[in-house]
Amino acid sequence: MRTTKNLLTEGTALLEAAGISEAGLNCSWLLAHLLNIDRLTMLAEGGAVVPPAKVKEFNKFLARKAEGEPLAYILGSQPFCGLSLKVDARVLVPRPETEELVGLAIEFILGSRLGGAPDILDFGAGSGAIALALARRFPAARVSAAEKSKRALACCMENARALGFTGRMNFLAVSAVKDSGGPFDLIVSNPPYIPTGVIAGLDKEVLSEPRLALDGGPDGLAVAKEIIAQAPAALKRGGALFMELGDTQGPAAVKLLDKRIWKTRRVIKDLNGKQRFICAVRQRLSYAGF
Ligand SMILES: C[S@@+](CC[C@H](N)C(=O)[O-])C[C@H]1O[C@@H](n2cnc3c(N)ncnc32)[C@H](O)[C@@H]1O
Repeated sequence: MRTTKNLLTEGTALLEAAGISEAGLNCSWLLAHLLNIDRLTMLAEGGAVVPPAKVKEFNKFLARKAEGEPLAYILGSQPFCGLSLKVDARVLVPRPETEELVGLAIEFILGSRLGGAPDILDFGAGSGAIALALARRFPAARVSAAEKSKRALACCMENARALGFTGRMNFLAVSAVKDSGGPFDLIVSNPPYIPTGVIAGLDKEVLSEPRLALDGGPDGLAVAKEIIAQAPAALKRGGALFMELGDTQGPAAVKLLDKRIWKTRRVIKDLNGKQRFICAVRQRLSYAGF
């Protein structure tokens, strides 16, 4: 007879031995998910007996976690901006920093004269995290989700369908902003930004995520540079580009913004004080055909 307490003790030891950080926390999330009960309730009632079939499933979950699979892939979902998004090996697990990026985009829309009905492009949509969070916040918005990976775009569409947003979104299988339509009031993007040379040394967990979602080329800015070059033609005058980058890349990216095209060129710090986001607002006057 096995109880939740036994399983948590043994599972935590197994994950610790496999070098998994926050072993106890991971273990408790896995078991609570499997038993379909609230995690804190489970911890408070540590003596509950677990049926043998569930113990078997738990051991399979533990083996996957010990191999370094992200918790969200095993649970099958990840919370993001109040949504529960389906995630699996097709997509990057949405990160808390990206919720901050969504917050910046919301602030821009609320501070503009767009009246809650903006045209928005999420470039590199992955699971659809940014696009779906903005679609939920602005029910009158027209939101396009552009993605190079067909598998990721399928995941994004599944999430949109589950939320009932499909009818008011566009799903674009493209690899460039210039092919994404527009003009948009807002382009928001969390592109791949890890320098190629750094990738091999990343945690197993991150390496389980799609390479296309991580690899930003030699300096990490390959996709960001293309976005910056192509965004002016895809934005309305006065429209904005918000982008998330690596925690030291903001200043380098801002230098790529031509002040004749962009009236605002700012690096914005994340909650940890890292220069992670850039905000650029297109000039209202045209320059060089933009
Ligand atoms: C860092 S992930 C971000 C995913 C999602 N927006 C999020 O924040 O969780 C980058 C995404 O961009 C996609 N991507 C990479 N290069 C691309 C390109 N040239 N065009 C469109 N999408 C691209 C990847 O497939 C991946 O889904």
